[in-house]
Amino acid sequence: MNLQDQHVVVIGGSSGIGLGVASAALEAGASVTLVGRAPEKLEAAASRLGNGQRVRTFTADVTEEAQVRELFQSRPPVNHVVVTAVHAYYAPIRQFDLAQARRTLDSKLMAAFNVAKHARFEGPGSLTFTGGVAADRPGPGGAVIASVNGALVALARSLALELAPVRVNVISPGWIDTPMWDVIAGAAKQERLEQHARRLPVGRVGVPADIGSAVLFLMGNGFTTGETLHVDGGHRLV
Ligand SMILES: NC(=O)c1ccc[n+]([C@@H]2O[C@H](COP(=O)([O-])OP(=O)(O)OC[C@H]3O[C@@H](n4cnc5c(N)ncnc54)[C@H](OP(=O)(O)O)[C@@H]3O)[C@@H](O)[C@H]2O)c1
Repeated sequence: MNLQDQHVVVIGGSSGIGLGVASAALEAGASVTLVGRAPEKLEAAASRLGNGQRVRTFTADVTEEAQVRELFQSRPPVNHVVVTAVHAYYAPIRQFDLAQARRTLDSKLMAAFNVAKHARFEGPGSLTFTGGVAADRPGPGGAVIASVNGALVALARSLALELAPVRVNVISPGWIDTPMWDVIAGAAKQERLEQHARRLPVGRVGVPADIGSAVLFLMGNGFTTGETLHVDGGHRLV
């Protein structure tokens, strides 16, 4: 896959899956803009990627319309946009904190509307949202993330028509070892991931590079739009 002379914006690129996507895009020759809220996380990610000339950062909250508008108006149109931002919130429905759940909706679903409204594309290009396996295999306490992931599938199908010729897809990861799990599981992270790995046909949980290469496919394959690509190690089968 050759992304020479192409510009990829990764919203959520300072951590986890977004950082894996940025790394894969850089390796394919693209220049990359990492977007997130915390400038220090963006700087750390940029230096970890170590490709000075081809890595830029932009501090923005994807839930804020003015900041997303500024992100895309402050640069020439881009080739590909990938959104991986999330406010992760898990709780049993009877103990639900609606304000927290709304933050998850804002960070993944309203954010997707916001980006689709303001992103400016050079050529046909692509827009990729990040859903997740919870849409198909919900777990207890995961109602809000399951709902948001499912909604993104419907949204991408709708936007694939509306934004054409820009292609709009969803990448749906299974469990990937990222800092998000420190928030969800805390000290139990390693134990939960190892337990899960033993259940999966592939015998391991994912790493961000597994999703990075799949997103490169969605960027590069000009005949794929309105699609959800599952990269979950067989999670939906077990
Ligand atoms: N990891 C998994 O097992 C897994 C499984 C299925 C689906 N997913 C999905 O994959 C996506 C990425 O997850 P991850 O594990 O890579 O999470 P992560 O490591 O926590 O990374 C999240 C990134 O999003 C940024 N972000 C969060 N809120 C933002 C906002 N309001 N505006 C801009 N940037 C924001 C964070 O930076 P700042 O905090 O500095 O803003 C960070 O760069 C999420 O949609 C998640 O639901 C993950």
